[in-house]
Amino acid sequence: MSAEIESTEARTQKLEGLGAKRKRVEDVRFTQGKGNYVDDLKFPGMVFGDFVRSPYGHARVKSINTEAALKLPGVKAVLTAADLKPLKLDFMPTLAGDVQAVLAGDKVLFQGQEVAFVVAEDRYIAADAVDLVEVEYEGLPAQVDPNHAMDTGAPGLRDDLQGKTSGAHGPRKHDNHIFTWEVGDAEGTDRALKQADVVAKELIVYQRVHPCPLETCGCVASMDKVDGHLTVWGTFQAPHAVRTVASLISGIPEHKIRIISPDIGGGFGNKVGVYPGYICSIVASIVLGVPVKWVEDRMENLQSTAFARDYHMTGEIGATKDGRITALRCNMIADHGAFDACADPTKYPAGFFSICTGSYDIPVAHVVVDGVYTNKAPGGVAYRCSFRVTEASYFIERMVDILARKLDMDPAEIRRKNLIRKEQFPYHSALGWEYDSGDYHTALDKALNAVDYAALREEQKRYREAFARGETRKLMGIGVSFFTEIVGAGPIKNCDILGLGMFDSCEIRVHPTGSAIARLGTISQGQGHATTFAQILASEIGIPAANITVEEGDTDTAPYGLGTYGSRSTPVAGAATAMAGRKIRAKAQMIAAYLLEVHDDDLEWDVDRFRVKGVPERQKTMTEIAFAAYNKVPPGMEPGLEAVSYYDPPNMTYPFGAYVCVVDIDVDTGVTEIRRFYALDDCGTRINPTIIEGQVHGGLTEALGIAMGQEMAYDELGNLKNASLLDYFLPTAVETPVWETDYTTTPSPHHPIGAKGVGESPNVGGVSAISNAVNDAFAHLGLTHTQMPHDHWRVWKTAERLNLTTV
Ligand code: CDP
Repeated sequence: MSAEIESTEARTQKLEGLGAKRKRVEDVRFTQGKGNYVDDLKFPGMVFGDFVRSPYGHARVKSINTEAALKLPGVKAVLTAADLKPLKLDFMPTLAGDVQAVLAGDKVLFQGQEVAFVVAEDRYIAADAVDLVEVEYEGLPAQVDPNHAMDTGAPGLRDDLQGKTSGAHGPRKHDNHIFTWEVGDAEGTDRALKQADVVAKELIVYQRVHPCPLETCGCVASMDKVDGHLTVWGTFQAPHAVRTVASLISGIPEHKIRIISPDIGGGFGNKVGVYPGYICSIVASIVLGVPVKWVEDRMENLQSTAFARDYHMTGEIGATKDGRITALRCNMIADHGAFDACADPTKYPAGFFSICTGSYDIPVAHVVVDGVYTNKAPGGVAYRCSFRVTEASYFIERMVDILARKLDMDPAEIRRKNLIRKEQFPYHSALGWEYDSGDYHTALDKALNAVDYAALREEQKRYREAFARGETRKLMGIGVSFFTEIVGAGPIKNCDILGLGMFDSCEIRVHPTGSAIARLGTISQGQGHATTFAQILASEIGIPAANITVEEGDTDTAPYGLGTYGSRSTPVAGAATAMAGRKIRAKAQMIAAYLLEVHDDDLEWDVDRFRVKGVPERQKTMTEIAFAAYNKVPPGMEPGLEAVSYYDPPNMTYPFGAYVCVVDIDVDTGVTEIRRFYALDDCGTRINPTIIEGQVHGGLTEALGIAMGQEMAYDELGNLKNASLLDYFLPTAVETPVWETDYTTTPSPHHPIGAKGVGESPNVGGVSAISNAVNDAFAHLGLTHTQMPHDHWRVWKTAERLNLTTV
């Protein structure tokens, strides 16, 4: 069939553009074991680094003796803080305006902290040499409980900060205090709570968890001493930012540093920050003149790289007798560990926690966050969430459920009553956000109808009656959650990291034969960017997605961007891609007009070509135009067909969703089974439904892990009690239920294609839905709130507290 008579539909299908269920192009190599991860890299002369780490949570370092290690055949060097100090590299800046010890000097502040870096011919010799480094410690009492970190008399943990009365985020009131962050109307909230018919108050703890990507963190640093170029391959979620930071720290000019993120096996926020391993590998490569590889093992990843959450939130929510929410207050202690290495935009030391009014029209609210130091690993990253949104969403979703109990209202009903109405968008929240678009009631109703909510509540009633009669030992819980995400940081005016504005970018080159390459400032860690960004372009420039290569992660070739985390890729880099595509199309239109000898305005776009208005048979396809761009452009026009866009988003995007979870709990064993989980997501325009579904499945599985078992638990000495996957729960297919997915589509009004992010939504909504379901199972028996994780043991303990157990 000739191109001329092919239908619009057939041509559209061929493009595999927006909305197509295109198969992931990345999977061709991933499913064949042909991925190229950091640990796959091999270079001539490459040596291996490994860390001596602190076994103590808090201790003085009395001495370090490296003699025996250096004598081991194959050992090339052992670095300590004493070696780094003259280079001013013993401390490095964190993303949150603090500093972090690269190697511990006089003191260790958390278990697993880096004390010395051993470099050897192979990783096994390096590991043996680690055991030969003799470190003499003097144990100190560990500060583990963040709620007591600022007690009078609690000793200051950080020697370098003693007596400093202000930090990166304002005044400090204790040596273990990092910042106070306050937002909202304190007086108004106080007044409204005093006037409320009903006030519910509760401590909601979101436990410390770890993003735990399957691939741990690592890098290969290679300093070419001849031309002064440093190349670092690493597990970096933000390669350009790493390049800038590396230049600022090392003094190596930025144009002589090349950062490459190869394939990355999951990031989830864990690979945003800069770790001592990167700095030590670079220093070792500079010293030794050969490439140095460092790849941490699983325990090192869990013990020392960025954790998430650890928010201790005391909430008060006020309402009228009939369930209208009138005010919300949250006072919170945030445990940041030994160094403030949170990854949040500079102005937001508690991230976007102030989205905590959630999806509800709450007239007044007030939040105060105190960040504190403890003897735990630093971090505080956006684990599959946009900068503390998950904490905020969990907080409000539990508070609303607790309020519903107090009012004896149905959890779905109280939500329906308070959800922001469609006509209120763009909605200005009490804590200062402008929600771009939403149709919450449609989403909630669709979700409740899909699961037949009324029938579920009836069934629950029968269950409870049977339980009371002793006919069953099982309780049924129904969890409803409604969430609003806030994703796509920038805009630059509000969001920067280390002074770098949070825009993103796309550069496109269309080749003469009509295929193209697009390079972006983001980097996929499994999200399928090479598949979906090509789809955006296919629709914008009429070139089949299959003919567009998408490349990310090499700072020598990609335009500057702030990277991938916080579901910002689609809202920001996806927008840049569409905008760059539009520049290509605008130039293509001028070339087509010249070729067809008409005015630009006389042309109209038709899927993959321009046609003369009213004379549709006169046309030029993108393939023809691409070739002409290299040999027949209008006089005065530069040849070629390339464009770049740096996109500063005007606002965030606000995806949302309605989730319902049904659990069955055996009170005698605590075994909690998810019988049903329904997830409705609205991420605006859907680029690739299959990828979205995969993202939702993955996010929900992580939510299951968090809600049902994950907790980084420390003993009173600061020992991490579950530093391996034997003890730290990572769900597998065995524990994972069937996820039912659904959607509504409410485009973002300011995004060029109307898309919002989706990758993190299921983690945000999923945790609340599961936790609400577990709490709901016991609600009729007087339980107000039980903290996560809801593993079988803790659920059994809850049943025991309520005198339900027989064993
Ligand atoms: O920043 P990150 O890639 O983690 O998250 P995202 O922007 O939510 O995108 C995750 C994946 O879902 C990407 O491959 C997106 O292109 C895709 N997606 C989509 O197909 N449609 C949307 N409306 C949003 C994301």
